[in-house]
Amino acid sequence: MIVITTERLELRQFDENDAEFILRLVNEPSFLRYIGDRGVRSIVDARRYIAEGPAAGYARFGHGLLRVVRKDDGVTVGMCGVLKRDSLPEPDLGFSFLPEHWSQGYAFESASAVMNHAHRVLGLGRILAITTVDNQSSIRLLGKLGFRFDRMITTGDDPTELRLLISEP
Ligand SMILES: CC(C)(COP(=O)(O)OP(=O)(O)OC[C@H]1O[C@@H](n2cnc3c(N)ncnc32)[C@H](O)[C@@H]1OP(=O)(O)O)[C@@H](O)C(=O)NCCC(=O)NCCS
Repeated sequence: MIVITTERLELRQFDENDAEFILRLVNEPSFLRYIGDRGVRSIVDARRYIAEGPAAGYARFGHGLLRVVRKDDGVTVGMCGVLKRDSLPEPDLGFSFLPEHWSQGYAFESASAVMNHAHRVLGLGRILAITTVDNQSSIRLLGKLGFRFDRMITTGDDPTELRLLISEP
């Protein structure tokens, strides 16, 4: 199902057919370093990740991480969306792209559209974002999207300090 369309991209809901893409994306060194280890080691694990993550989000909250597809050739370049985590009090923006598709403006194009959709279609107010202190690409992107730094936080049992950023509608 296509949720959002931009000039170059389509953002679609994930389903079990996307397990191979997820298996690769969440094991990219950049994902492991800046987001974390989701423990996805096989196609079966990836199907579980989709069911318990994005698909559960669509069913429970009406939104979640979406698959970002390049319109030109149908290639999946990354994921982007607004999710609702148990560890944060309000919805937050998430994104991750395969390295061969970086620096082409896909992250900004999809995240801008996701933010508009969140405010105008989903009716969400404040949206949060969390990044590690050293994730310069993400911090730069969030700045361009209008997020401002709020404070340092920790989430769950993880003692790592994260930057909390906020976007007001
Ligand atoms: C964070 C992440 C999504 C950023 O992706 P990215 O590819 O660098 O983002 P973009 O392509 O949108 O922007 C990068 C640059 O490309 C430029 N660019 C190149 N071609 C472009 C085009 N055709 N149109 C628009 N911008 C273009 C942008 O202007 C931008 O430059 P700037 O930073 O100097 O303004 C990516 O590094 C990633 O997936 N990291 C791993 C996962 C991660 O850390 N996720 C975030 C967790 S908080």
